[in-house]
Amino acid sequence: MAALWNKLLVLGFVLGFCLVSSSGELERFEESLKGDGSLTFLVVGDWGRRGDYNQTEVAHQMGIIGEKLDIDFVVSTGDNFYEDGLTGVDDPAFHESFVDIYTHPGLQKQWYSVLGNHDYRGDVEAQLSPILRKMDSRWLCLRSFIINAEIVEMFFVDTTPFVDKYFTKPKGSVYDWSGVLPRERYLSNLLKDVDSALRESRARWKIVVGHHTIKSAGQHGNTEELNARLLPIIQANNVDLYINGHDHCLQRIRTADSPVQFLTSGGGSKAWRGDISWPNPEELKFYYDGQGFMTMQVTEARIDAIFYDIGGEVLHRWSTTDPFFSIV
Ligand SMILES: *[C@@H]1O[C@H](CO)[C@@H](O)[C@H](O)[C@H]1NC(C)=O
Repeated sequence: MAALWNKLLVLGFVLGFCLVSSSGELERFEESLKGDGSLTFLVVGDWGRRGDYNQTEVAHQMGIIGEKLDIDFVVSTGDNFYEDGLTGVDDPAFHESFVDIYTHPGLQKQWYSVLGNHDYRGDVEAQLSPILRKMDSRWLCLRSFIINAEIVEMFFVDTTPFVDKYFTKPKGSVYDWSGVLPRERYLSNLLKDVDSALRESRARWKIVVGHHTIKSAGQHGNTEELNARLLPIIQANNVDLYINGHDHCLQRIRTADSPVQFLTSGGGSKAWRGDISWPNPEELKFYYDGQGFMTMQVTEARIDAIFYDIGGEVLHRWSTTDPFFSIV
């Protein structure tokens, strides 16, 4: 009897410890490198329009390139379902804009998605629900989470709740803030979790992914709330890249005042807005106003990013190497 009580006591302690230590931490997913030590993924954003606005054509090309590069997974930078997210887990848009569109054999991989502002205009819990994962095992959408793949760690951040205007001037749209309020506590906990996860990371490369821009020459421009609150954490923890959607374009910015590369992949469907403005042309390394997507190949020694249009033409290439790699 005493032995049983001891066991229960130990179990109680272990459970208690797990509950305390896991509270507020970001969920983690492991991805393994290929045999040659590389990891390849595709990034698309701002897409769910039931195939319209070239969504189907972009999807087809993603499949061709995805197959050729043998991608390990797909990253969605959010605005997964227009105009107002999903109405529930039984919303046919899940099939019409995702399952029945990304059918190419090259895209039958895990998808990792964040939420965009349009997703917050629907039932947020529906997109996060395991019921969708059962309908299509590729689907995985969470507010904030981490992918760990040895040489690279990717930190997905829920950016919509940072943006003031969705709270103060919702312009007739209804946002689903359940799970977010009280807002300031949500934001400060999130920033604290991201900061400590970044600080503890031993990965060679660190990538942060969010829906909203930090720096962008597109229609929406910079997101000042993220410049003020997320960027300092990104810079203090030597993050290499910030990847986002939100502006319906493909772009790369490298400013004089930040070592971070800012990459936008928001060309999954409706694009061609035609407006572009950036004060210093030197810093705007690439801007394409049409549809397309980005791929990224990562090894310990280098990162290669390529932007493609819907015809599969390479629009822009960028790469960076680890300056310390040759010494190691
Ligand atoms: C579809 O893509 C083609 C080629 O880039 C472009 O010319 C056309 O305007 C696009 N259509 C729409 C509706 O965006």
